Amino acid sequence: MEITVQGNAKVKGKVKISGSKNAALPIICASILNRGKVILRNIPRISDVFDMCNILKYLNCKVKFKGNTLIIMSKNIVYKPLLLEECKKIRASYYFIGVFLFLFKKCEILLPGGCKIGSRPIDYHIKAFQDIGFKCSIKDNILTVVGTQDDEVFDVTLVNKSVGTTMNIILAGLGFKQGCIRNSLIEPECEDLISFLNIIGFNIENTSSNVVIKAHNKINTKIKYEIIPDRIEAMTYTVLGLLCGDLVINKCNPKHLLSPLNILKEAGYKLDFKQECLHVYKSVGNQINIKTDVYPGFPTDLQPIFGVLASQTKNISSIEENIFDNRMQIYNDLIVSNVECIIDKNNVKIIPANIISKDYTVYDLRHGAAVLLLALIGNGSSKISNFELVLRGYENILQKLSKIGIYVKS
Ligand code: EPZ
Repeated sequence: MEITVQGNAKVKGKVKISGSKNAALPIICASILNRGKVILRNIPRISDVFDMCNILKYLNCKVKFKGNTLIIMSKNIVYKPLLLEECKKIRASYYFIGVFLFLFKKCEILLPGGCKIGSRPIDYHIKAFQDIGFKCSIKDNILTVVGTQDDEVFDVTLVNKSVGTTMNIILAGLGFKQGCIRNSLIEPECEDLISFLNIIGFNIENTSSNVVIKAHNKINTKIKYEIIPDRIEAMTYTVLGLLCGDLVINKCNPKHLLSPLNILKEAGYKLDFKQECLHVYKSVGNQINIKTDVYPGFPTDLQPIFGVLASQTKNISSIEENIFDNRMQIYNDLIVSNVECIIDKNNVKIIPANIISKDYTVYDLRHGAAVLLLALIGNGSSKISNFELVLRGYENILQKLSKIGIYVKS
């Protein structure tokens, strides 16, 4: 999909933030742990969610997706090897491994795909499955995990801090009487999965460094659950407002935004927060210094987006990417657009300058959002190709942009 974007954009109006992609995907997977009807609210209508629904239908689940409410009925679920195209297309398909280990004690799945922001293996997941007693093998790009779960109890330390591994081991550990997962993460999306699992009857506690799974007396009833707002989408529109005009960002959760908001306050940006609503205006910050980290640190998904903001500050900014080994593409786009960026492996210094519009190619979801912001502050018009990658994680983005004054030709 190619779009054309006019620079010197001005925005004014309100944006309603959608449900979180990275909370919705594991929770949709986990819904099949409940035999009763599961009604999920605030589910974003994005391509990754539609792909996830196709996998559920393939497993003989009934799925109804009306507006932002997704109804899942899995009482007739059947075990099947997960060798669908969708499993390769979206990385979050790997959450079916943990769910299948609880339901069927086995899983065969195509190794997942996802964004091109580094090698992105799933070795941490495999190590953790093995450490809690499951056998894993890979052949022809298919991962097979089987287990007898002889032990009733496990205590595992994750080899590295990983969002996906934390959530996948929680799901795989639900069948044990007692379990402890150390070196786990507390991303809001992990917390949302845990609160959903406790609502369907499991018994899980999450502290800052480990997750404890206790015996549950789970019953399979009708469940209603609302997904948290998308903190990355919220901050993407916040940066748009700071660059291009006057935006009210509705339905975001300030508790999840403390680190990026502190970076903006330290840079001198004016932000008005009232309950779930953030009001931002076009302004020029002093400088932006970021080191990405796990939550509650600065989220890696916002790094390319803040990189574009840093090209418009008064002084030189510095950004360090510590989570992914290949997430610096946006700085090459900034360089060709007249911004001097001194890149040294995963560190970059950005010397602010006016943007000369170019055409861009999107590499991954968050790079695509950053490229869109870059095009909107250029001095002319830009063609952006592979824009469909942005639709994976930003619900109704073209409609939301048109409502605040940005008309994109697609
Ligand atoms: C989740 O990816 C998110 N995706 C990512 O968001 C997000 O950037 C990332 O967490 C970090 O916050 C979803 O939730 C669907 P990790 P995940 O395991 O779980 C390496 C977006 O734009 N690693 O915390 O894959 C990995 O390569 C996406 O919404 C291994 O080496 O992230 C990375 O360098 C992009 N082996 C680091 O660890 C493994 O087995 C952290 O990855 C697993 C991870």
